[in-house]
Amino acid sequence: MKVSVLAILTGLTACASAAPAPIPHVVHEKRSTQMQKWSRRDVKLSRDTIIPISIGLAQSNLDKGYEYLMDVSHPKSENFGKHWTPEKIKQTFAPSKDTIVAVKTWLIESGIESERITISNSLTWVKLNATIDEAESLLKTEYGVYTHVETGDDFLAVEEYSLPAHLQDHVDFVTPTVHFDLAVKHKAKRTDIEGRDLIEPHAVKRPIPQIQPDPLRVPLSSVTFNLTNCDRYITPECLQTLYSLPAGTDGLSTYSVVEYTPQAYIQTDLDLVFSTLGLPIPAGTGPSPIDFIDGATLQYQEEDFGVNGESNLDLTYAIALLYPQSVGLYQVGDLVEGASFNNLLDALDASYCTFEGGDSSTYDGIYPDPYGGYQGPEGCGNYTAAQVISTSYGYNEADLTAAYEQRQCNEYLKLGLAGVSVLYSSGDYGVAGNGGQCCALPGCAGGEYNGGGSGSFNPSFPGTCPYVTSVGATQVKHDYSITPTVPSPEAACETVIYSGGGFSNNFPLPAYQADAVAFYFQHHTPDKYNSTIYNDSQAARGYPDVSANGANYVIGVDGTLSLVYGTSASSPVFGSVVTMLNNARLKQGKGPIGFLNPTLYAFPDALNDITLGDNQGCGTQGFRAVKGWDPLTGLGTPNYPKLLEVFTALP
Ligand SMILES: *[C@@H]1O[C@H](CO)[C@@H](O)[C@H](O)[C@H]1NC(C)=O
Ligand SMILES: *[C@@H]1O[C@H](CO)[C@@H](O)[C@H](O)[C@H]1NC(C)=O
Ligand SMILES: *[C@@H]1O[C@H](CO)[C@@H](O)[C@H](O)[C@H]1NC(C)=O
Ligand SMILES: *[C@@H]1O[C@H](CO)[C@@H](O)[C@H](O)[C@H]1NC(C)=O
Ligand SMILES: *[C@@H]1O[C@H](CO)[C@@H](O)[C@H](O)[C@H]1NC(C)=O
Repeated sequence: MKVSVLAILTGLTACASAAPAPIPHVVHEKRSTQMQKWSRRDVKLSRDTIIPISIGLAQSNLDKGYEYLMDVSHPKSENFGKHWTPEKIKQTFAPSKDTIVAVKTWLIESGIESERITISNSLTWVKLNATIDEAESLLKTEYGVYTHVETGDDFLAVEEYSLPAHLQDHVDFVTPTVHFDLAVKHKAKRTDIEGRDLIEPHAVKRPIPQIQPDPLRVPLSSVTFNLTNCDRYITPECLQTLYSLPAGTDGLSTYSVVEYTPQAYIQTDLDLVFSTLGLPIPAGTGPSPIDFIDGATLQYQEEDFGVNGESNLDLTYAIALLYPQSVGLYQVGDLVEGASFNNLLDALDASYCTFEGGDSSTYDGIYPDPYGGYQGPEGCGNYTAAQVISTSYGYNEADLTAAYEQRQCNEYLKLGLAGVSVLYSSGDYGVAGNGGQCCALPGCAGGEYNGGGSGSFNPSFPGTCPYVTSVGATQVKHDYSITPTVPSPEAACETVIYSGGGFSNNFPLPAYQADAVAFYFQHHTPDKYNSTIYNDSQAARGYPDVSANGANYVIGVDGTLSLVYGTSASSPVFGSVVTMLNNARLKQGKGPIGFLNPTLYAFPDALNDITLGDNQGCGTQGFRAVKGWDPLTGLGTPNYPKLLEVFTALP
């Protein structure tokens, strides 16, 4: 190894001395001029402060990723269902040797000793600890301290940085630079062995559960729950009737829901629902298996809606719909730092994680936890991906950088190639973001929010990633007493929450969705909105893809029956339906479905089209549920017999 690097270096040096022109640098990334949230402070940085530099290497063949995914998941493809092995996925996308050599050679030529350069096991990151002087010279930039005007947090960042022209295509991005992902911690400042300041990572940006409590706290102890009142109280029986679901079986496919610590389920709350509703599920039936990832725990020091509502909801309904089949749980993150979606993805795929676990030092949990929590190494590819994975948490697309989201979205593509169906809830604030926030600037530029009431629509992530199935929320229309024969009993959810939906500012329209979105714009363009309010280019990814009921769920919270609302309910319910479909396919000797969307868009009649309601937000009515796909209920809710016909007919 050493010999070959030396050989390369000698070759290059000889070359360089023959033609001593300096390597031309070109600007690689620039800070958005609209990032007004940060102001550069006039402080002198100690010149030998150490910065942990990460250089994200460009993966190979990503440009063909969509094609590969369609090959195994488009219903018209003869390779439908022929999912890839993890090894084939890793080999196909790994950065090429040329890329690694080019970046390493540049660093060594610039005076960085080879021993200081680390390459992640996945071969996707080159890392080094550099002094400010070294970093500035490598990237032809000037580091400064930027203060966040609202929080007062200090970040180390630059206005723009450059790379040698020949590396442009080999490098995705370099951190910390223009992304504001390295906070300067004032407390608990650490120094390295030589006593120099070490800049520490910032606590993880936690994903938000997409669930809301009952604002009226309707007492439920004397209610008789049955099919006549599904418009006020949703139970597993209501869902089975609405979607014509079969009873649970001892199905062989695998399904796990994801929860982020400190969220924790309480077994007695699950039992309370099973017994109150007279379900044939023995007390003590909880998730199995439970995968504890990155020091995760089921914490019970704190018990309230905020920490138990989400997990109780997801598990109660997944278990109730599928029992006796078991439902798994990925419990992710320690109590101190917490975790993000990338931490789960790292645990499932070694080619995604890095040697020290951080994907981004701002957004993701770093393990061993620098804040004193879990001190073990992070989970890295040593957990198995279930065939269906449902997550009821989300960010606003504008909370994170486009590069970060693209990298994560590519990982969902790879899970699809591996035969995994990934579902996310679409958000609870209609066209607004978490907490009802809207964007101050068109396109959510700069990630500035205005608190809601006006402004631009604020799409949700990962729902806008075209490689997940985004699930919106419906409700039973008021005063509908449902039976299997009542047509269209559901509308878009407008009770307590509004189904998250709209169009991405970051992700283009995927081909599998193009006809559905074109039909929507041809027939239902909401002409009162223009490009200052949302991405009306008709070239952007629309979400959600599908929906399921999200209102009036009866669950147990800390010993009391309560109603809850949210796309948080919709995603695990839709995931349970997909699991039933996988069971049917496995019985036929076929494989799991994997990426769902191409088939769902090719067979829209297998879903109950929702044509009533809207998803207000940002001082507007939002979008309207209409015939065909729409950006609040997607293609509609499950029609199990039709879905079964479609998916069991495929190879
Ligand atoms: C940078 O320094 C930190 C703290 O000493 C260390 O944990 C990390 O491994 C170093 N990174 C590299 C790439 O050497
Ligand atoms: C359903 O519940 C309601 C009360 O919520 C009750 O009036 C009605 O008799 C029940 N119907 C059946 C069939 O049990
Ligand atoms: C996965 O690896 C991590 C880090 O080595 C370890 O703490 C964890 O127990 C492992 N989990 C499994 C399921 O093997
Ligand atoms: C709208 O989406 C398209 C396609 O992804 C993109 O090119 C464009 O920049 C987006 N517009 C805004 C304002 O974000
Ligand atoms: C968009 O519509 C708003 C009124 O809703 C108007 O003030 C604005 O000028 C319009 N912008 C464009 C680019 O048409």
